[in-house]
Amino acid sequence: MPNTIVVGTQWGDEGKAKVIDYLTRSADVIVRFQGGANAGHTVIAEGKKFVFHLVPSGIINPDKVCLVGNGVVFDAQQFLREVNELRTMDIAVDGRLFVSDLAHLVLPFHRLEDAAAESYRDGQIGTTGRGIGPAYQDKVARTGIRVGDLLDWDLFTAKFNRAFSAKRALITGLYGSPFDSDAAAILDEYRGVRAALLPFIADTAERLSGALRAKKRLLFEGAQGTFLDVDHGTYPYVTSSNTVSGAACTGSGIGPLAIDHVVGIVKAYTTRVGNGPFPTELTDAVGEKLRSVGGEFGATTGRPRRCGWFDSVMVRKAVQLNGLTRFALTKIDVLNDLDTIDICTHYEIDGKKVDQYPSQGSLIERAKPVYETREGWKADLAGCTKYADLPAKAIAYIERLRTLCYDIPLLIVSTGPDRRQTIEVEPL
Ligand code: GDP
Ligand code: IMO
Ligand code: MG
Repeated sequence: MPNTIVVGTQWGDEGKAKVIDYLTRSADVIVRFQGGANAGHTVIAEGKKFVFHLVPSGIINPDKVCLVGNGVVFDAQQFLREVNELRTMDIAVDGRLFVSDLAHLVLPFHRLEDAAAESYRDGQIGTTGRGIGPAYQDKVARTGIRVGDLLDWDLFTAKFNRAFSAKRALITGLYGSPFDSDAAAILDEYRGVRAALLPFIADTAERLSGALRAKKRLLFEGAQGTFLDVDHGTYPYVTSSNTVSGAACTGSGIGPLAIDHVVGIVKAYTTRVGNGPFPTELTDAVGEKLRSVGGEFGATTGRPRRCGWFDSVMVRKAVQLNGLTRFALTKIDVLNDLDTIDICTHYEIDGKKVDQYPSQGSLIERAKPVYETREGWKADLAGCTKYADLPAKAIAYIERLRTLCYDIPLLIVSTGPDRRQTIEVEPL
C-alpha cells in the first residue's frame, strides 16, 4: 500500500477507524498525528468492539507498529487505560507502540480549565471536556509540558508545580470556577504513570524516517473532521488542532512528498456533536431516525449527534482542503429504509446561489441548503459484496454524490459497522 493519510471530510465520526482497520492490513506503521482523547474511534472485528481515543486503531492487528506523533496532545492516564484494556484482550503492545517525546501532555488541570473556560465563554462550543483546547493553548504559548519532560522527574515536577499555580490563578481568578485539585496527589499518581509510560516514549519522527528508508508502508490516522479544523472549520465551533491532511506532516515529522494518497471518509449523510452551524441539520423525525438507525451517539461523551442530509458543498471543500485522492463512503446502510433521500447541491445565502463553501462563519450561519430529492432504494444491503450488487438506486445516489464532489474515485463503500461489511471498489 502506498503511504496514505485518512481524514474525516465532515464534522468527525465519519467512520475513520473502520477504514483505518481495513487499510491496516496492508500497512506496516500506523500514526496518530493530531487531536487527543477527544477522538472516539470504533472498530468492530471478529465479534469484538474496540473504541480508541489515543492508541492508533491499527493496534488490534498483530505485528503492526503504532505511533502517537508529536502533534497529538497526550493524556497519559487515558493512554495507559487503553493499553491495559488491550492487554486484558490479549493484544500485545510491547515493542510496537510508541509515543513521541515531543507530544504535549494533557494534565488533570487541563480538563478543569476546559470545563471552566466553557462555562465562562459566551456561546459554549460543547467541547468533549478532555482538556484538548487548554493543552494546545499551552503548547502554542510555550508553557506546555511534554511527554519527554517525564524522562527527568525533577524537571517534570518543577514544570508541573509552576503550571499548577498558574492554572489555579486562572481558573479561580479569571473564570471564577472551583479548583479542587491537590498538586501533591497528582504528582504521586504521575510517579506511577511515568514508570508505566517510560517504555513507550520514543523519538517517533526518527522511527518514521527509518521506516521510510526501509520502504515500510505508512498509514496516518486523522482524528475529528475537516470542518472541526481550527483554521478551515466553522470557527470558533471547532477543535484546537489542524485536522486536514497537511497536519499529518507537521504532526509526525515527515515531508509532504512521502505521501502518496489521501483518503477522505465521507458519511452518506451528515452528523455533528457539539455546537455550531449545520446547514443541513434535520430537527424532525427524519433526523431522529438517522440518529437511531445510525447509532449516532458520541463514542467519547455519549452525547446524541445532530443529524442531517448529505452536504455536497462541504465535501467539495474537503476535497480541496485535503487534496483527496479517494473517498471511502460509510454508513450507506443507514439510509436503507427511507422513502426519499435529499442531497444538498448548493446553498442559498441572502438570495444568491452559492456553490463554494464560504469561509466566513456569518455566511454559513445564514446558508439555506438547496436540495434535490431522490427515491430511496428500500432494501437491505446485507448480501452485497461487490459494488455492482448494490441496488441501482443506491448506486445512483452514490454516483450523484461523487459527481457533485469532483468525481473522486471510491476506495470502499461501507455497508455496516463490521469489518466484513466492506465493499472494495478501487484499491490504492
Ligand atoms: P470515527 O471517529 O470517524 O472513527 O467514527 P466513530 O467510531 O466515532 O463513529 C462511527 C460509528 O459508525 C461507529 O459506531 C462505527 O462502528 C459505525 N460504523 C462505521 N461504518 C459503518 C457503516 O458503514 N454502517 C453502519 N451502520 N455503521 C458504521
Ligand atoms: P473523532 O476523531 C466528533 C468536537 C466536540 C466539539 C468540538 C471541540 O471521533 O471524529 P474539543 O474537545 O476538541 O475541544 O471539542 O469538537 N469534537 C468531535 N466531534 N468527533 C470527534 O472526534 C471530535 N473531537 C472533537 O464535540 O464540538
Ligand atoms: Mg468518533
